[in-house]
Amino acid sequence: MDSFMNTLNAKQSFFDELAGGWDHGWQPENRQRLEEIFSGLLPEFRGPVLDLGCGTGVLLPFIKKYGRDPHFLVQADISMQMIRSAEKQSRAAQYGTCLQGDGHFLPFREAQFGAVFCFRVFPHFFDKTAVIQECHRVLQPHGQLIILHLMGHRELNEMHRRAGRIVENEHILPAAELSGLVANERFRINEVLENSRLYLVTAVRL
Ligand SMILES: C[S@@+](CC[C@H](N)C(=O)[O-])C[C@H]1O[C@@H](n2cnc3c(N)ncnc32)[C@H](O)[C@@H]1O
Repeated sequence: MDSFMNTLNAKQSFFDELAGGWDHGWQPENRQRLEEIFSGLLPEFRGPVLDLGCGTGVLLPFIKKYGRDPHFLVQADISMQMIRSAEKQSRAAQYGTCLQGDGHFLPFREAQFGAVFCFRVFPHFFDKTAVIQECHRVLQPHGQLIILHLMGHRELNEMHRRAGRIVENEHILPAAELSGLVANERFRINEVLENSRLYLVTAVRL
């Protein structure tokens, strides 16, 4: 437990440091790609929605636009600085609420959410199976789990290797393999897509 907490604290500090400049690295092209993904690739999803590892809240406009009623949004992240930025955006959009929370121990009761998004966060989870189990616990029956990146696993793992520091060894499995872990935790896999520009696993909670 001590080493888990040390890693978590170090990761929090790492992302706290990045929070101030995070939105500057968010390219307009990404917005266009998310528009295409939300409008063309994702299954229909309903709220309440949990954006786990929300960062500064880049998914908010898309969840607001594409979620079906009732589409209340909760944004959770371990980094307090990321949450502070997400809160500003949330207030401006008059949509969603933000809290500090860890994917391994989600601070919610069972069956609260219609969808959980994990956008660009999965490699950072220390125990991926535990997070999938937590997502199962907080999802309503038939709720959607959506794991998304804008690059494939090789590109992502290489990016982390180059970034060094605490993320150097934070890897994600190929989507086909990760979907196997998800299926083992009482999800029905809906869609698995992977190429060098996209990583998408969607699954329905059984
Ligand atoms: C690469 S950033 C992505 C942020 C946002 N989803 C985006 O795409 O801009 C990963 C985020 O996950 C958060 N994170 C890392 N480990 C986490 C955990 N165990 N539980 C919740 N959030 C976590 C980090 O603090 C960081 O904000």
